[in-house]
Amino acid sequence: MKPEKITEGVYTLRVNHFNRRLFDSLIPLPQGTSYNAYLVKGSEKTALLDSADPEKAEVLFDFLKEEKKIDYVISHHAEQDHSGSIPLVLERYPEAKVVTNAKCKEFLMTHLHLPAEKFIEVKDGETLSLGGKTLEFVFLPWVHWPETMGTYLREDKCLFSCDFFGSHMATSELFSDERGVYEPMKRYYAEIMMPFRTNIKAHLEKLAKYELAFIAPSHGPVHKNPKFIMDIYSDWAVCGPRNKVLVAYISMHGSTYMLVNRLVSRLQEAGVSVEKLNLDQFDEGRVAMALVDSATLVIGTPTVLTGPHPKVAYAAYLANLLRPKLKFVSVVGSFGWGGRALETIAGLIPNIKAEVLKPVIIKGMPTAADLVQIDELAALIAEKHKGLPACG
Ligand code: FEO
Repeated sequence: MKPEKITEGVYTLRVNHFNRRLFDSLIPLPQGTSYNAYLVKGSEKTALLDSADPEKAEVLFDFLKEEKKIDYVISHHAEQDHSGSIPLVLERYPEAKVVTNAKCKEFLMTHLHLPAEKFIEVKDGETLSLGGKTLEFVFLPWVHWPETMGTYLREDKCLFSCDFFGSHMATSELFSDERGVYEPMKRYYAEIMMPFRTNIKAHLEKLAKYELAFIAPSHGPVHKNPKFIMDIYSDWAVCGPRNKVLVAYISMHGSTYMLVNRLVSRLQEAGVSVEKLNLDQFDEGRVAMALVDSATLVIGTPTVLTGPHPKVAYAAYLANLLRPKLKFVSVVGSFGWGGRALETIAGLIPNIKAEVLKPVIIKGMPTAADLVQIDELAALIAEKHKGLPACG
């Protein structure tokens, strides 16, 4: 494998992992992922920016096979998909120093047992010259971990953004195209950054002063269209929710499905966009993406052994962790002989500070009167959504 040139002296060492299907044993990867290291070569020094997941270390070293000397390893983030091969890099290049911030140094010492003397500690805004290539360190904490930073390469106007602006996407294309990268980027943002959108907003403001020609993240392709990328992030992290309802449901014997179908039809008739997700084939990424811009979440559940269906409970717990910008929430469902599904769901979503709209919990198969309750819920949601922007 040969490093791919982004611009003079700047190369990507993109370690594709086409067959990986789960990240963190949790997040589905329908398009695999990549771990992107970068090489920046100045007239005097060479820096390797991040490494790769240790499972794919041999690919990283194949990229580096002609590289005789590395002076600096810039570590943006201690999570092992980027830092995990640094100990191996230091074995191969014992003269190299690890350049990072104090928090990341602490994490690398505890997570990878790197010795303190291997580090050069930098502060926010500090620079490091490689000879005609100036690296400026830009702290970006809480992209989803507290120690994360990026690097701005001044001469080439390239921001190495780590997880920020990344996408779980294995690809042979060096640069992203706007249509192809939109969904993987949204999925990635939704899964790990949505709970930290206040920090993301602050980072977007911080980065506004930098002139950018490239954004080079640690997952997925490099972006040559920074404005497009920053704008979609701003839409997700800064703008309010859209005129959209996520209906996430399970039905065991068809009764909850009848309620959900009626609700979806009535909402659509009222001009409300609906994303209807059957949770029997659970995709955490689809749920997370739908939560990015929905104003309302309606959970549909049957009652199983006195509580909600376990897959519904998992979805509710996940939504609670992701802290979406929901304004309204409701529950519809059916029970056979009793239970406390509604109360259990309410206990699972304390982080969601949304107004609760008129849950509809019925016994058995819906009657005409039950369906009228659903119609009223749909009308109430449509009323509450008045004035919200349409889905983009
Ligand atoms: Fe791609 Fe947070 O690691």
